[in-house]
Amino acid sequence: MIKIDKLNILKQDYVNCHKCKLCESRTQVVFGNGNINCDLMIIGQSPGRTEDLEGIPFVGDAGQILDSILKEAKIYRKQCYITNSLLCFVKPGIAPETGWVASCNSRLHAEIDIIKPKIIVTLGKNALQALTHTADPIWRHRKPTKIFNGVWHIGTYHPSAAIYTGNTGILDSIAEDFKKAKKLLSNLQFIKQELI
Ligand code: URA
Repeated sequence: MIKIDKLNILKQDYVNCHKCKLCESRTQVVFGNGNINCDLMIIGQSPGRTEDLEGIPFVGDAGQILDSILKEAKIYRKQCYITNSLLCFVKPGIAPETGWVASCNSRLHAEIDIIKPKIIVTLGKNALQALTHTADPIWRHRKPTKIFNGVWHIGTYHPSAAIYTGNTGILDSIAEDFKKAKKLLSNLQFIKQELI
């Protein structure tokens, strides 16, 4: 079965999901979006209000910041597939409950399994935990590391952290981490070409 069919089946499984109480406050389930044949997958925390209304991840304020960081790192958004550790809107300032993340985790891993990215960048602590099941601080994961199935992972900060804390230095760190991802991407693509 081809990727798009597998993804559509996965979407169908979650479009009316009632596994956690976030189903009560969402407008819709915001499934991953982007290039399904990408090498780079980005995982955020959960849709914000704009994403909840539009049904696409990272199209609100955090999305604008992410777009400018990607531009700085010379990564095209259309090269990436973007999803979240939770598919449903979480009210601002509310920390995701462990049960919500657990309910959405097999979907996240199924999505990764279908997309088969070479590099995953997680944005923020919740995405890091959902992917790696560690409670480590983000800085420990900023260096590219191989995780399961030989996939590279870089854990960086969430763009919204710059909005909430007013610390714009965070944006430089995120850009630095995406530049590492870009370099890795170029190296992996170079190796692939060498093998052809
Ligand atoms: N923040 C996220 O983590 N994901 C989105 O889709 C939007 C904002």
